Amino acid sequence: MESSSDTFGKDDPAGAKLQESRVVTEEEWLQKWETNNIGFHNEQGHPLADMGHQVVGVEISESALKDFFTEQKLSFSEEAIPGIPGKLLKSTTGNISLYCCSIFDFTSAITGKFDAIWDRGSLVAVNPCDRERYSQLILSLMDSRCHCLLATCLYDPSKHKGPPFYVPDSEVKQLFGKSCDITCLEKVDGLAERPKKWGLDYFWEVLYMLVLK
Ligand SMILES: C[S@@+](CC[C@H](N)C(=O)[O-])C[C@H]1O[C@@H](n2cnc3c(N)ncnc32)[C@H](O)[C@@H]1O
Repeated sequence: MESSSDTFGKDDPAGAKLQESRVVTEEEWLQKWETNNIGFHNEQGHPLADMGHQVVGVEISESALKDFFTEQKLSFSEEAIPGIPGKLLKSTTGNISLYCCSIFDFTSAITGKFDAIWDRGSLVAVNPCDRERYSQLILSLMDSRCHCLLATCLYDPSKHKGPPFYVPDSEVKQLFGKSCDITCLEKVDGLAERPKKWGLDYFWEVLYMLVLK
């Protein structure tokens, strides 16, 4: 593992152009869940709610959300989301609210702003043409003391079309740098079986902390 607060590693804005017109549709994501083509899925989950937090998630696939409650042996209730298409699946314990809707329909009017955001597999899954819209949404959901952890990845974009998409350091700065102080917390070698199968010979997982200026 390497740590640095500076720009580092492979950062190739020209490489990012190779993926800029790539689009993965919502239907294709739903299909991935239906066919279990979900190598990104972490079955253990992250222990946020267990640490006493109120957790809110947004995901387009209803089956993914229902699987989550089943895997975690949690009962849940369903309700409509006022004003947008989709539904809210809420644990009966009350501390986990998962919105089954498009992230692009989600707004702070639904839940208020957040004091912490964990972006794992989200910016890197958003189509490159939607990144600006996505970053504006995230910024609008951050309250003034919010800490946002953002995970990205670096690899040779001429060898894999994504997702996950290649998001260089320069792009993170372009998307969030005007509004946020950005600290790179770590850069970890993630060249596991999956990226190797894609034909990659390096794959860095990069973790940033974003704090509003
Ligand atoms: C790479 S996966 C990451 C999932 C999860 N965050 C994780 O870390 O395991 C990207 C997820 O985004 C979901 N997704 C794709 N488009 C979406 C959209 N417009 N709104 C909400 N979720 C979406 C997909 O169904 C998929 O589960």
